[in-house]
Amino acid sequence: MNFRAFHVFSFVFIFSYGFSIAQTVPAVYVFGDSLVDVGNNNYLTLSIVKANHRHYGIDFLNHKPTGRFSNGKNAADFIGEKLGLATSAPYLSLISKANKNENNNVSFMNGVSFASAGAGIFDGTDERYRQSIPLTKQVDYYSNVYEELTREVGVTALQNHLSKSIFVVVIGSNDLFGYFESSQLREKNTPQQYVDSMVYSLKLQLQRLYNNGGRKYEIAGVGTLGCCPELRLKNKTECVVEVNYWSLKYNEVLRSMLNEWQLENEGIIYSYFDTYAALNDLIQNPASYGFTEVKGACCGLGELNARAPCLPVSNLCLNRQDHIFWDQFHPTEAASRIFVDKFFDGPSTYTFPINMRQLVAS
Ligand SMILES: *[C@@H]1O[C@H](CO)[C@@H](O)[C@H](O)[C@H]1NC(C)=O
Ligand SMILES: *[C@@H]1O[C@H](CO)[C@@H](O)[C@H](O)[C@H]1NC(C)=O
Repeated sequence: MNFRAFHVFSFVFIFSYGFSIAQTVPAVYVFGDSLVDVGNNNYLTLSIVKANHRHYGIDFLNHKPTGRFSNGKNAADFIGEKLGLATSAPYLSLISKANKNENNNVSFMNGVSFASAGAGIFDGTDERYRQSIPLTKQVDYYSNVYEELTREVGVTALQNHLSKSIFVVVIGSNDLFGYFESSQLREKNTPQQYVDSMVYSLKLQLQRLYNNGGRKYEIAGVGTLGCCPELRLKNKTECVVEVNYWSLKYNEVLRSMLNEWQLENEGIIYSYFDTYAALNDLIQNPASYGFTEVKGACCGLGELNARAPCLPVSNLCLNRQDHIFWDQFHPTEAASRIFVDKFFDGPSTYTFPINMRQLVAS
């Protein structure tokens, strides 16, 4: 090998192995619900879904609630860690700082989170929880950010930045919970019609992200929703079969939409995460992950600690590491960490057609 070739070789070598992932992914833009909300709902005055009181955040060093629906970190935090980036800041906190002029140098170039507890693909979940930021509005906010960034850095630099950024989308559970709780929705739509229209509406929002520069997507399906502590109360602590069935069906329709959407648009790369398979594996094989409690919530009241939300007066389990569920609906920090490990390096049983590591490298 001559000297020149050696240089090229070592450059390529350093570039592919020596550089951390942080330098290849400049930012993460997060869309979704309470599974990835890192504090937006704390800025919604009317919302009744807020994790701004104890025992939320009990396992942070200062034991303070942050708006995350967890005893500590949630999936959004672990995604940031995997990528060597700070967790994307809540959009409403950035806006409020900019308005108060605390920091008139707020930039969205480092990523932003639009995720909001209670959010759905449909706007209807907004009524159930008085206030949340439904997906359509999250994408409206993103469009504002896109315009702002265009003014800041220009179209070409922005397209380049966004094409390397990761767009995380974790949504759909609240729409399904809403359907099974509402006789009105059930009268209007068969479950098949409902999941089809969820996926159709999601596709419209994904297309808006694509039209504004998004190219790399990490998209999660829904989990075994019928096995949440709250749902188990309806079936003598066993999973609700119908809800699980339609969770699976929704994921199937979602997967085929993603495949079709990719064919329709140039340059889309995505990793689909099968939350259903991942959560089901935790529930079926708890011991291999260090869990001993798969049914009940850690924080709550009554049977399975699921008769009431996690409130200041609620019971708190002693060991959060051995519970899959933190409250009626949300995973513990321990479970979220496992999910993100699977997002990142999972085999095709969990991530399809590629995992997040491959998404980053692509
Ligand atoms: C404002 O942001 C720019 C670009 O990100 C940076 O170079 C500059 O140092 C920042 N200024 C302050 C006061 O933070
Ligand atoms: C309740 O759980 C049992 C055991 O898993 C299952 O066979 C049954 O279909 C469930 N009932 C409902 C209403 O989901």
